[in-house]
Amino acid sequence: MKEIKISIVGFGSIGRGLAREVIEKRDFLLRKGYDLKVVAVVDKNGSEIDKNGLDLANVLDKNEFSYNKTALDVIYEIKQDIMVECTPSNITDGNPGLSHILAALNSKINVATSNKGPFVVAYDKIMESANKNNVSVGYEATVGGAIPIVNLVKSNIRADKILSIEGILNGTCNYILTRMQKEELDYDEALSEAKELGIAETDESYDVEGIDTASKLVILANSLMDMNVKYTDVEVDGITRITQEALMLAEEIDCTIKLIGEINKDEHLLRVSPRLVPFNHPLSVGGTLNVIMLNTDIAGEITITGKGAGSKETSSAILSDIINIADERL
Ligand SMILES: NC(=O)c1ccc[n+]([C@@H]2O[C@H](COP(=O)([O-])OP(=O)(O)OC[C@H]3O[C@@H](n4cnc5c(N)ncnc54)[C@H](OP(=O)(O)O)[C@@H]3O)[C@@H](O)[C@H]2O)c1
Repeated sequence: MKEIKISIVGFGSIGRGLAREVIEKRDFLLRKGYDLKVVAVVDKNGSEIDKNGLDLANVLDKNEFSYNKTALDVIYEIKQDIMVECTPSNITDGNPGLSHILAALNSKINVATSNKGPFVVAYDKIMESANKNNVSVGYEATVGGAIPIVNLVKSNIRADKILSIEGILNGTCNYILTRMQKEELDYDEALSEAKELGIAETDESYDVEGIDTASKLVILANSLMDMNVKYTDVEVDGITRITQEALMLAEEIDCTIKLIGEINKDEHLLRVSPRLVPFNHPLSVGGTLNVIMLNTDIAGEITITGKGAGSKETSSAILSDIINIADERL
């Protein structure tokens, strides 16, 4: 039996969703030989700590935490194998996530995270620090929610060179465009619906102006395509100017309009833009779904579709990273 001690830093939607899945999956993981224990949970307002493993159901019920130790206190003071970083994404300087991740790596603690910000601003620095300290970083959950794109490329098509990537990487935009076309809603109505459903970011401009998609392109380009790009290298246009009339005109030629992120290595192109997509094209997925289409030199086209967000779905990616790290390092 492999004991895996983790901390969860950032106990919002994703952190709580992960805690619920750790409870749900306990017996399944024990049968596979993994005894997963959460030794600390940290939020902006404090922390819960038990070096033998927290009673997560009890922690999930609490409105206030017992200790006032911060994320950095927990990283430096509590013995753990993996720090799971789930604080808000910040693509300006990556913080607070970047400082948490670097502190963990420099303390020889492995990291699994859903936080895009640190990887957009400092992918190389994070990887150098992980290598130097002989620890691992799992970031599957930063792109495409439950879609296992990073592990697919790193583990399953290892001899292939990725020539280009195209995809729908933001479920909120896809939901808005789908509702505008199917239900003939105008943009503001569809956006309000997405907000009511809680699928839009708190600051919806991240979604609708293409910022979230562009951030994910930077992570994919740097980590899967050996490129060395920054956020400012991406041409970004969002969906705010798409009208219902435009979608109706597209429909007349059997097309829809999707917010597509694309990377072409040879052309050094990174672009987020609304594009016409034929209804029968693999990129034409509806609702909150995400889709990623790879073009590689050996395998050719590979398309993968799935839930791009959601606390339960994203936990699938984080748990997978945790188990990979345990297999590799513990
Ligand atoms: N939601 C999704 O479906 C999804 C999918 C994939 C990836 N992600 C990424 O996963 C991360 C978490 O997303 P989320 O939806 O869970 O966000 P969230 O609900 O806003 O949760 C973030 C949590 O982190 C806490 N926090 C902020 N600063 C902190 C600090 N310095 N130390 C400790 N905790 C801190 C926040 O506390 P306060 O509330 O008190 O500020 C909040 O509880 C983000 O980076 C997001 O981009 C989300």
